[in-house]
Amino acid sequence: MSQCYTSQKEGSIPIHLLTPQKWPAVLKGLSSADQKWIQSWDFEAKPHQCCVLPNKEGVPSQVLYGVSEKEPLWDGACLASQLPKDHTYRVEGLSEDTFLFFAQAWGLEHYKFSRYKTDKDDPKKTKLFVPKDSLDFLTQKIEVSYQVRDWINTPASDLTPEAFSEIAEGISKEHKATCHISKGADLEKNYPMVHAVGKASINKPFMVDMRWGKETHPKITLVGKGVTFDTGGLDIKPPSNMLLMKKDMGGAAQALGLADLIMRTNLPVQLRLLLPMAENSIGAEAFRPSDVLTSRKGFTVEVGDTDAEGRLLLADALTAACEENPDYLIDFATLTGAARVAVGTDITAFFSNEKGLSDALKAASEKSQDPLWELPLWGAYASMLSSSIADIKSCSAGGYGGATTAALFLKKFVPDSVKWAHLDLMGWNMSSKPGRPVGGEVMGLYAAYEFLKKTCR
Ligand code: BES
Ligand code: MN
Ligand code: ZN
Repeated sequence: MSQCYTSQKEGSIPIHLLTPQKWPAVLKGLSSADQKWIQSWDFEAKPHQCCVLPNKEGVPSQVLYGVSEKEPLWDGACLASQLPKDHTYRVEGLSEDTFLFFAQAWGLEHYKFSRYKTDKDDPKKTKLFVPKDSLDFLTQKIEVSYQVRDWINTPASDLTPEAFSEIAEGISKEHKATCHISKGADLEKNYPMVHAVGKASINKPFMVDMRWGKETHPKITLVGKGVTFDTGGLDIKPPSNMLLMKKDMGGAAQALGLADLIMRTNLPVQLRLLLPMAENSIGAEAFRPSDVLTSRKGFTVEVGDTDAEGRLLLADALTAACEENPDYLIDFATLTGAARVAVGTDITAFFSNEKGLSDALKAASEKSQDPLWELPLWGAYASMLSSSIADIKSCSAGGYGGATTAALFLKKFVPDSVKWAHLDLMGWNMSSKPGRPVGGEVMGLYAAYEFLKKTCR
């Protein structure tokens, strides 16, 4: 990955970013040999059109590239893969923000998940010149993004709750954070619903509780849904819905990636990270629809459907988070199909119990080009979660407003005094686009980071 940027400018090939409007004037200034070459390529500076000009020795010497003004983030991705390899390129004249997007997309385009390929990656890279003052942050951001994608892409047979807990432990060691891991009888006692969801699997459930930073800084708690595989449990999913369910730890991946980025860049926060990890399996020990569980908070929960497992894990984690009154609490989860019906797979739906936080998240989403969209935490729908035998039911009988009812279930475990946002995300690219190959994806992490950077100064 680090091979995609360099801070050495020497010998780099300039990239000229053009629009069809600017193009005729630029063309006129070029040599007649270059003009002929360009005409033979039918280059008109249309968005994402690229033309490489050779020098007299036949070596690339300049790049002409058409950009869209609509989607600045992905311009760099479209270009990186079109260029001759084993060269360094530079792009100038962009505002700092646009340059950072260009470079980010360039880095994301170089990602490949090759863990299970015997034929590994082509080691030849196209490098982008990045000034020293941006190099470190960009490198951290891209490294974290690659990790998040790798974790989500790794099948559940290798990425078990225990394996992911070890990854989290490794990251906390790197940053001298403390990491407490609960499992077995300890987990059953302290996080009873995490235990209930995970107990049918031979890959036993875990809870990661990481802490880092100074007590004088704002207390930020992150929670991530870590279902390493979601069969649906006894309410088994049909094959087409189960196929992607190794990604059901996508929320935990965002939360751990965000924690890592916070620590790498030393944000002035007092961080706590809670990752409930479990595999929702089918077996003799599986929890059942209609079972009544007692949550960490003491509320009893009637299981409406064993496929509504994520909210059970999150409820116990949110309870533990709120016991310490964080200044902000943000959870990440691949929680509902309903959120995907509402906003599609590229946009992260979010809910919040506090207007200041939701406004700040919207602004951060825009600034980071990481799309979030708010859905209503409509209190009146909470009646859909009433149970005749327990304090609450885990899901409503009909699917209407499914993302909202899931969020309302979580809200029962968060006091109004805690500023809380819940991100219901996909964590997966359904089709390949420049910089975004099919598979695990970073969603919500950049926006949340931007929010924290702005809020905790
Ligand atoms: N992990 C799924 C939700 C999901 C499905 C996210 C597809 C992204 C893509 C979750 O555990 C689940 O199965 N939710 C159910 C809840 C229902 C049973 C109340 C759903 O959304 O159908
Ligand atoms: Mn499920
Ligand atoms: Zn799930």
